[in-house]
Amino acid sequence: MRYTRQGISIEYDDIGNGVPLLLIHGFPFDRTLWRTQIAGLSQIYRVIAPDLRGFGQSSETDGEAVTMDQYAADLKSLLDSVNITRAVVGGISMGGYIALAFYAQYADRVKGLILANTRAVPDSEEGKRSRLANAQKVGESGTGFLVDDMAAKMLGSNAKPEIEIAVRSMMMRQRPAGVMSALRGMAQRPDRTALLRFATVPILIVSGSQDVLIPSSDSETMHALIPNSRLVIIPDAGHLSNLDKADAFNHVVREFYKQVA
Ligand code: MLT
Repeated sequence: MRYTRQGISIEYDDIGNGVPLLLIHGFPFDRTLWRTQIAGLSQIYRVIAPDLRGFGQSSETDGEAVTMDQYAADLKSLLDSVNITRAVVGGISMGGYIALAFYAQYADRVKGLILANTRAVPDSEEGKRSRLANAQKVGESGTGFLVDDMAAKMLGSNAKPEIEIAVRSMMMRQRPAGVMSALRGMAQRPDRTALLRFATVPILIVSGSQDVLIPSSDSETMHALIPNSRLVIIPDAGHLSNLDKADAFNHVVREFYKQVA
């Protein structure tokens, strides 16, 4: 399905009935990252999975920064357009940064948060420099080098080969301008630590024991900050825990929903 506002089109899946679950993909992916959640969870919940601006089949960006707040504003408008007042908002990695931005701006629209393989702290100065250098390089030579660098770090050591292939091809089909915008936007993201400390909604934090991009220690740090949170570290899962160990991930979400719904 497609939603258009102020010239920006967001392509999304909206499947199932029940308490809405908005799923926000990571970088540099698209909504097909959630295919096993859409299949496994839409029988019980209404799952809304958008392509972020610049990714998948959503509108092109111009390569300049799209901030986490801007992505969140797109998603809030999308929820308005499909008459959803409150949803469980879940994001993985960059999707988690956006879920936090969403909660910071639209707390009254959030029934619960799922923060998977993500962190509340901003990039270090070195991290920012590297994001901006990568954005420039993508502009000059395309996304190939980034895919080569990141693909091997996305999954745990015993991930299924077909998932590895799907992850790489999802990364390869993303457009350079959208990738550049996200890199520049992530470099600008603020510290959300204080937001978490005062969060009032139920929060599920998920990590993978083999996540080398955002290690479980970051999830443990978030968990320690939030009184109303549950932490699950999925054994043998890598960074994309929802794909790598889909059944375990879906089970954890179902358990969390009992607390939220
Ligand atoms: C992601 O998977 O969304 C990225 O690894 C996040 C990041 O680069 O910080």
